[in-house]
Amino acid sequence: RKILADELPDAQVIVVSNREPYIHNETKDGGVELVVPASGLVSALEPITRACGGTWIAYGGGSADRTVVDRNDRVQVPPENPSYTLRRVWLSDDEYQGYYLGFANEGLWPLCHIAFTRPIFRESDWEAYEAVNRKFAETVVAEARNERPIVLVQDYHFALLPRMIRERLPEAIVITFWHIPWPNSEVFSICPWRERILDGLLGSSIMGFHTQFHANNFTESVDRFMESRIERADAAVSYGGQVTLVHSYPISIEWPAELLKALPSVEECRARVRRRFNIPADAKLCVGVERLDYTKGILDRFHALEELFIRHPETIGNVVFLQIAAPSRGTLPAYKHLHEECLRYAEELNQRYGGQSYQPVVMVAEHHSQAAVYELYRAADICLVTSLHDGMNLVAKEFVASRDDEQGVLLLSTFAGASRELLEALIVNPYDAAMMSEAMLQALTMGPDEQHERMRRMRDIVRDNNVFRWAGSMLLDAARLRKRGDLDRVTA
Ligand code: F6P
Repeated sequence: RKILADELPDAQVIVVSNREPYIHNETKDGGVELVVPASGLVSALEPITRACGGTWIAYGGGSADRTVVDRNDRVQVPPENPSYTLRRVWLSDDEYQGYYLGFANEGLWPLCHIAFTRPIFRESDWEAYEAVNRKFAETVVAEARNERPIVLVQDYHFALLPRMIRERLPEAIVITFWHIPWPNSEVFSICPWRERILDGLLGSSIMGFHTQFHANNFTESVDRFMESRIERADAAVSYGGQVTLVHSYPISIEWPAELLKALPSVEECRARVRRRFNIPADAKLCVGVERLDYTKGILDRFHALEELFIRHPETIGNVVFLQIAAPSRGTLPAYKHLHEECLRYAEELNQRYGGQSYQPVVMVAEHHSQAAVYELYRAADICLVTSLHDGMNLVAKEFVASRDDEQGVLLLSTFAGASRELLEALIVNPYDAAMMSEAMLQALTMGPDEQHERMRRMRDIVRDNNVFRWAGSMLLDAARLRKRGDLDRVTA
């Protein structure tokens, strides 16, 4: 907020994302319930938007979303303390199918993640993606109070949007943040519309990634496929008379986490979670929390647990693995298949290694509120974040933030961006079940002093590099660009 007031006075902030921060759903008794979705993007952006005010434009997917908006499709949020405007964009079933399920999640999602799921590209999906990006561009223009807003475009759903905004609002600052990895240029070249995607993104003033590695991959793709000039020293790309800064800004979470204030002690959380999921008092509790997605390595985690039981049979009966997986994109075949496989494997492990009073795996494929998730983190002995590939992964940071008792062990995939910062986690390769099982054993047997030392250091990192710093550094870069642009105009 201070950076905005000092460096960009009067600038209007507009956030654009597919996922909305608050979903209004109808309840069975005809009421309306409010759901905060399981989304790293939402956990990161929401505190920022709450602090800065402005407008957040998103797809209105909740069954009661239309009933709570005013005649301009707007609603003020958060409900308990309204501080910004949520502007819903309505999509038809065909648009949603082609743009979101199709091009974004069957095309770009597998293209950008190393999870060996083949991307599917359909002409009709591309057309829907383009049409929906245009719809959002029109909404940005309609919401802009003047010609110079700061537009924060979020994620792979909107690769064409920055160019569309630039054409309509040439003086806008467009900061695009790509929340998922960017593949190397060879992999990226698979996409039939690769030049269009790059052209769209190069309408941005700033292109942000979680890691320098992914920023470099992006620059290499531009270098290979576009008539452009790369200024490596300035981390900038010149294309079509416009300069785009390409930087890494590692995303993070709110610190201190607002909802921690309302949570009970670690002891109380442990007791509650163990009661709710029927976990024996003397068993160590491992948790995994994510969307039910094939990039998250859930099956690989089950495999590592089985490997632990085979290599160290004394652990059978002494460890329970609780996997929470919020369903998303569930109508797509790859996600349906994953869901079935997870249930099947969990059942198999329970039959093979469990008994009447002991089930080694508890798999709950349901959405949990943020408060319930934080309660789980606080109850856990070990948190497993073993994604096959991930831009950042905020579960790792949330687990650390939740542990003000400075206990608990984090197992973290080397293929998640968070592993570049959280060096005191036990870093693992999720493809290597033997290695993961040994890391699980190390975590299960780690003494409180070592846990304390590792957790303390990780907490320092997350506290210092919190989400306000993430947004602040992008806004400072934006302010520099604006001043340079204004200066150029005056001297021209
Ligand atoms: O990880 C990529 C991402 O878009 C996040 O930014 C977001 O948290 C998550 O996927 C949400 O996925 P969906 O909205 O498709 O359920």
